[in-house]
Amino acid sequence: VTTPPDVLDSSDPLAAFRDRFVVDDDLVAYLDGNSLGRVPKATVERLATFVSEEWGSRLIRGWEDSWVDLPVAVGDEVGAALLGAAAGQTVIADSTSVNIYKLLHAAAATRPDRDEIVIDATNFPTDRYLVESVAAARGMTVRWLEPDLVDNVTVELLGAELGDRTAVVVLCQVDYRSGTLVDLPALTALVHDAGAVVVWDLCHSVGVLPIALDAAQVDFAVGCTYKYLNSGPGSPAFMYVADRHLAEVTQPIAGWWSAADLFAMSDTYEAAPTIRRMLSGTPSVAGIVAVQEGVRLIAEAGVDAIRAKSEALTAYTIELLDDAGVELVTPRDADLRGSHVTVRHLDARRIADQMIARGAVPDFREPDLIRLGLSPLSTSFAEVEAGVRILVEVAAGARR
Ligand SMILES: Cc1ncc(COP(=O)(O)O)c(C=O)c1O
Repeated sequence: VTTPPDVLDSSDPLAAFRDRFVVDDDLVAYLDGNSLGRVPKATVERLATFVSEEWGSRLIRGWEDSWVDLPVAVGDEVGAALLGAAAGQTVIADSTSVNIYKLLHAAAATRPDRDEIVIDATNFPTDRYLVESVAAARGMTVRWLEPDLVDNVTVELLGAELGDRTAVVVLCQVDYRSGTLVDLPALTALVHDAGAVVVWDLCHSVGVLPIALDAAQVDFAVGCTYKYLNSGPGSPAFMYVADRHLAEVTQPIAGWWSAADLFAMSDTYEAAPTIRRMLSGTPSVAGIVAVQEGVRLIAEAGVDAIRAKSEALTAYTIELLDDAGVELVTPRDADLRGSHVTVRHLDARRIADQMIARGAVPDFREPDLIRLGLSPLSTSFAEVEAGVRILVEVAAGARR
């Protein structure tokens, strides 16, 4: 490696953003922002104000002041800043898993004469489990793609499995293990050519790379906010439903928050004509407020600048790991990866534990993977260098 980390940090246009986060731990390197992002200082202040002034002083009146509108208002901010989505198609609610469940039913219902859901066997467990349960509930069949871990889902692989029975395809834009970034526009077009609809899981891509859902004519999408959106453990997820599906879309947890008139207490259910129809019950206002702060910080930095830093961070990490001869399962082409780099090692669990004991936090994924998550607004090059150095030292003493 030729360039020292302090030189990279001093020429980083986003370096100052690190000060916008709480960094008062005793860690040498936090390389797990792809699981749980750091806390923005603005969120600390905003939550304190929310508790004392909004909840504390306004009490129940807070709902009418602003809280009722927050799921859609903040959804629109996420849509505009991060998803390339025009207003009225994104909402903040519940968890990623619950939203996947809702979207799978919604998506399948748009293709009543078809009976297959296609998903890759490398997909995140919650996506796979939910696809199996929704398929069973609707009398559908799951068709499994078996991609290579590094290549992930390609046009060739998916194209071979689509047909006139395909109703829904479920894909992740960035693979949670390898960090591979797949071709969202091309795969979406392929699904549409087969007459099916797609549900994209954006958990590992939202906030670190430009996404253009409207332009790609994506049908449905979902993602979490506790990773690169830095909104806190268990913060609510987002859901996107394309305008053209909204009038017809149905969902299986239709509650009073999805009804046309929330406070009418009507005897019969009538779905809201807007994206509100994807809601279910009372939202977590504190959680949504934290999402709003997280999104605003990203919008201020700009997703394009964030992507440029993410590419530089992952390239630097790969260079350091290559120098040490460590095996990687992340694509070397920057266009084909997200913002984490994954090492494969027989002794991965022990290495990860020993790294943590030395103040460098990565995350371990069964059975033999260590992910290094590089959160562009809060991760410095110096931190990466220190973390990788500890990984390499620990790995040198580990079983091969
Ligand atoms: C791709 C993907 N989908 C879903 C989830 C999690 O879903 P939930 O937020 O409901 O726990 C994760 C969590 O890491 C994930 O990586």
